[in-house]
Amino acid sequence: MLSEFLLAEMSRLGAQDALPLHRQLYEALRRAMLDGKLGAGERLPSSRDLAQDLKLSRNTVVAAINQLSVEGYLASRVGSGTYVNDNVPRATPGRPARQGSNPPASGVPAGRLSVRGQALATRFCATELEVQPFTPGIADFSAFPLTLWQRLQNKHWRMTYPDMLDYNDSGGYAPLRRAVADYLRVFRSVHLDADQVVITSGTQQSIELCARLLADHGDTVWVEDPAYWGAVKAFMATGLKLHPVPVDEQGIQPSTADSAQPPRLIYVTPSHQYPTGAVMSLPRRHQLLATARVHGAWVLEDDYDSEYRFSGPPISSLEGLDTDGRVFYMGTFSKVLYPGLKIGYLVVPKPLVAAFKQAHYDLNRPGQMPVQAALAEFIEMGHFTSALRRARQNYGERRQCLLEALKPVLRDQHPDGPSISGAEQGLHLCLRLPSSVDDRALAQRIAQQGLTVRPLSAYCLARSDLRGLVIGYGYAPLAEIARCGPLLANAVRQTLGS
Ligand SMILES: Cc1ncc(COP(=O)(O)O)c(C=O)c1O
Repeated sequence: MLSEFLLAEMSRLGAQDALPLHRQLYEALRRAMLDGKLGAGERLPSSRDLAQDLKLSRNTVVAAINQLSVEGYLASRVGSGTYVNDNVPRATPGRPARQGSNPPASGVPAGRLSVRGQALATRFCATELEVQPFTPGIADFSAFPLTLWQRLQNKHWRMTYPDMLDYNDSGGYAPLRRAVADYLRVFRSVHLDADQVVITSGTQQSIELCARLLADHGDTVWVEDPAYWGAVKAFMATGLKLHPVPVDEQGIQPSTADSAQPPRLIYVTPSHQYPTGAVMSLPRRHQLLATARVHGAWVLEDDYDSEYRFSGPPISSLEGLDTDGRVFYMGTFSKVLYPGLKIGYLVVPKPLVAAFKQAHYDLNRPGQMPVQAALAEFIEMGHFTSALRRARQNYGERRQCLLEALKPVLRDQHPDGPSISGAEQGLHLCLRLPSSVDDRALAQRIAQQGLTVRPLSAYCLARSDLRGLVIGYGYAPLAEIARCGPLLANAVRQTLGS
């Protein structure tokens, strides 16, 4: 029944649009879901069976299923197959769903938003975005030197001349670009002149700018699997085709099969993969640069939390190894200062600097020069380094406390037993769990205790083998971590039955 419908849809699409086979199957499966021929929670036939019934290659079927998983239509469950997600919208009787509808965010009526809008409004993570102890990605802003910051802001507002109130077309306030360049040269081994620094409103804008200027609608971007949801959404918003590439303990690991989907862009977090925390090994870095060269692809390096390195050897940027000028390096002040500051930086290869400044001006109308001036002085006067030193000390203690609390969970020495990854750096770590654990249910149980952790599987795009908890130690004070750490550990132990 299903295969007959799929074959009919595919033949219609093939005749109409000359789409490649995997795209025809993707569209046909999506239509089956929207029309209710495949209902929410229903199990999809295996890729092998589908390939046989439809007389397609298994790769074609897997490519279609992967894309639907990335877009949230399908979810894989270990050992039991692939299912239609609960939130796939149905066409209203008598009023067919629009071609290409996506699962909307709860409460968003399908049809009001564009197809892209529905995908963008769909929540990526399995748990609510509550800020509680252990919420990953949240720093402690209470330590920010507010009075000093206020004084600097006041000073620069007083000194402001009319030009500083205008949009800015030079890539940002020159002394701030110089300060950023000096920092990156010394601490991150980035090769750059200040002229190559473009000040943006954060990494999110840096990623979007690169996606818009370096790729065209429908081009392929390789993203790490599991992935940073902010980057995924930026690529969806710019109409790129996401191709998830698995990450292991040495970072992204493209295979020859991945090369069948040649990338225009490759987005990576090599210093501290988000969310697993894997550090990309040196051989992998060289391999990735070589792969990018073969495909003529650009590499987007998101270096989001390298300021906080607690153990292990220092890690330089991927950009520092690039001899080809194909790495765009991006960083942010969100983690060391505060996210609402909305200032980040993008290092652009020299030949493209003028183009990026022009397009950034036209698309984003950048400004906020008095704030940039205050930030430049904050850095030049050494306040940034002091704030960083204090924050490192604070977060280091919290990290240590969390690691101690999790020790009893790690007692199981079984190879598939719980382990920790990514604790050397940043504001979160990843507790890896056996693949039999339902990490979403575990995260929900932990949430009932007033704690927020994120299931690792919720960050996965196409793969279904990873289970774990992404745990932040940036937000809660030390005493809270000391109090809540054992609660967290107990919940995990109960689930594991140890
Ligand atoms: C991987 C990654 N990149 C970037 C950011 C932050 O970027 P922005 O400068 O947009 O705040 C985050 C924030 O949590 C992140 O996890």
